Amino acid sequence: MNENWDDIKNQAVKWVEEAGKMLKESLYKQLDIHTKSNPNDLVTEMDYKVERLLKERIEKSYPDHKIMGEEEAGRHIESTNGVMWLIDPIDGTTNFIHQKFNFAISLAVVENGIGKIGIVYNVMQDEWFTAVSGQGAYLNERKLRQTQPVTLQEAVLGLNGRWLAREKRADEQSLHHMVRRSRSVRSYGAAAIELAYVACGRLDCYISFRLSPWDYAAGLVLLKETGHLISTFQNEGVPLLKPSSIAASRPGLHDELLHYLYDHKGFDY
Ligand code: IPD
Ligand code: CA
Ligand code: CA
Repeated sequence: MNENWDDIKNQAVKWVEEAGKMLKESLYKQLDIHTKSNPNDLVTEMDYKVERLLKERIEKSYPDHKIMGEEEAGRHIESTNGVMWLIDPIDGTTNFIHQKFNFAISLAVVENGIGKIGIVYNVMQDEWFTAVSGQGAYLNERKLRQTQPVTLQEAVLGLNGRWLAREKRADEQSLHHMVRRSRSVRSYGAAAIELAYVACGRLDCYISFRLSPWDYAAGLVLLKETGHLISTFQNEGVPLLKPSSIAASRPGLHDELLHYLYDHKGFDY
């Protein structure tokens, strides 16, 4: 079936706007906070509420589409055939709880594994990063420019600050070398926002270990539309059905990043 991606994107923006209002209102109430895989992996009732709201809206309009969400939806999905939505109801839950700032709703639509729509809504800044495949990416009404090459020495790197401490999954020495050669480092605590910041030029790259498809699916569409390079640390395509490392960067930077992240020393992914 031929989908009208523009119409779907416009519809999805309305649903995300509705969910964003719900999140803003919830900030004045007591949040119900729980932990998931470890004491720093937090979830609130709002994560579930936003995912359920989006899932209900999608199911009603597009009963044939698959839905994968961080909290509940789509655990059984085993293939990317057909149309699939990927929902991160709150990306940056720790920020949502601790800072009430720098969190986003991330929503992507992919067809047969190819990104068609990417929406990252930075709720408190009211910034909309949107893209429909083949039509460029936007920050609110402004079309984002195609990116240009940059060197590591001139680059501001986006990464998770925790990885600079001793970590079983990362060789911090190699990361130290990379950071020392760069212009500076930023860390916002919300992968979808950080990928959107690369797309719009606020960051020159974003690198992370062990992200999930809902963290980056929308960002991938924004980044592709702005000419950025995206891969795993092993320089492979980023998967949509399992966790992965990700290096998203301006051209000119990617090979050098991968050298520090992979060639150099053994990161497990
Ligand atoms: C997390 C954030 C964080 C990243 C984690 C993600 P969540 O998402 O994007 O920046 O470092 O790996 O899991 O749990 O807030 O949706
Ligand atoms: Ca996330
Ligand atoms: Ca989340």
